[in-house]
Amino acid sequence: MKDIILNNLKQYGQEHLLTFWDSLSHSEQQELIDQIQSIDFALIANLYQHRNTPAESLTLADQASDPPSYKFSTVTDPTPCQSQKPIAVQEAVTAGEEMLRQGKVGVILVAGGQGTRLGFPHPKGMYPIAPVSEATLFQFHFEKVLATSQQYGYQIPYCIMTSPATHHETVDFLEQKNYFGLRKEDVFIFCQGTMPAVSLETGQVLLNSKNSIALSPDGHGGMLAAIARKNGNGISVLDCLRQRGIEYLFYNQVDNPLVRICSPEFLGYHLLSGSELTSQVIRKRFPTDKVGNIVEVNGRLYMIEYSDLPEEVARKTNSDGSLKIWAGSIAVHIFNTTLLEQNSKITTALPFHIARKKVPFVDLQSGEQIKPDKENAIKFERFIFDLLPSAKNAVVVEVDPPNHYAPLKNATGSSSDSPETVKRDLIAMYADWLNKAGAVVVADTPIEISPLFADSPEKIKQKIEKGTVFNKPTYLKN
Ligand code: UD1
Repeated sequence: MKDIILNNLKQYGQEHLLTFWDSLSHSEQQELIDQIQSIDFALIANLYQHRNTPAESLTLADQASDPPSYKFSTVTDPTPCQSQKPIAVQEAVTAGEEMLRQGKVGVILVAGGQGTRLGFPHPKGMYPIAPVSEATLFQFHFEKVLATSQQYGYQIPYCIMTSPATHHETVDFLEQKNYFGLRKEDVFIFCQGTMPAVSLETGQVLLNSKNSIALSPDGHGGMLAAIARKNGNGISVLDCLRQRGIEYLFYNQVDNPLVRICSPEFLGYHLLSGSELTSQVIRKRFPTDKVGNIVEVNGRLYMIEYSDLPEEVARKTNSDGSLKIWAGSIAVHIFNTTLLEQNSKITTALPFHIARKKVPFVDLQSGEQIKPDKENAIKFERFIFDLLPSAKNAVVVEVDPPNHYAPLKNATGSSSDSPETVKRDLIAMYADWLNKAGAVVVADTPIEISPLFADSPEKIKQKIEKGTVFNKPTYLKN
């Protein structure tokens, strides 16, 4: 067995992976073989060889023009929409509500990231972020899905993508919380794939221990392969969605508790514009805002990650001083499921991106694990938004951060995207909803509204009497 594997590894200069073979127990050897057999070494060699090829994003940035756009009704910025086909707000809402009433919309949450910047030793979804109840990010998302299910009278299939780093804890946590009221059979938890990390200098795959390879999640683009993968019963997530008549999949990241899951207005712009993939964007607050940039090039939409956008291009302005590249993605999308199905059959549908990282590895001489203090490795990741250029009629919908976007990215004490800023933004949004409903919220009073009580300003109006005063910490729930 060893010889067959060794010969195969030699073709790709990866025979060092068996350095400790003779010192391993039988079961350790088996673990290592399983990992080795799951790796496409030809692909790794190819990716490493092209590691210094300039990113396509540089050319794209040069040719970028405005993407076709709609504006969510809460946006106050007066810049006109760039849509080819005008759609009135009420028209969009009506169309979106119809999609929901017909039970055609499913939801996917990507929760496979390791949350390194936050420094929280559990899956990020377990972070207690709510300002009064201390509800977790998962609770926010699940309650929004439940509220939508209840309102539109169908069991929304809720797909949760984890990674090997977050899977077991997420499964245990959600089970322990009874899926926050959703039925277990409507929640599809599945694990994304992995890619090996390779040495920056040599391209050799790194060992994490004597019998295991340094593997990391393959990026949220790993979702495409993961939803098409058959489980033990020969059924994939895509099969389940198809069986339930789901034609659209609403997508969001785990880190943003303000996201309006399945907002009818957003769904309506998607449907009525004939788009296969629609993304929410904010008007970038400053040129180097850490959000992906959605641009149009030759009639197709593309995302240029913030890390790939040259600063001088990011700073370019129009004659009125506004930013030329303005559409910052908040990673909220809606996909036609047919687009996902078609692309899941094409192994090269999504390119790999390269990230230079510090990855602990086993020293082949000493057998000791080394924790590097500078970047020593390359990780390979795919991003789901790279489907944008293959999507017909892709459009963006501009939303306003106070009502849609407050992500949890950084640790306590950071000046942006930290637990403090997210709680502040949640409180401000709820106070605004209540004030608009005619209530009086005394300044600096922590307020929280469960999505099951009201998940939009319109709904809070029906629940709160005008003149109600909020002067102490309050959690409104059913
Ligand atoms: C991301 C987007 C950026 C966008 C911003 C909005 C990428 C590469 N960039 O930036 O364009 O403007 O969010 O907040 O996505 N995840 C997985 N599996 C993985 C990796 C990540 O499920 O292998 C999930 C994470 O759990 C998280 C999300 O993807 O929910 C985003 O990942 P993160 O690495 O935090 O992206 P950002 O740099 O914040």
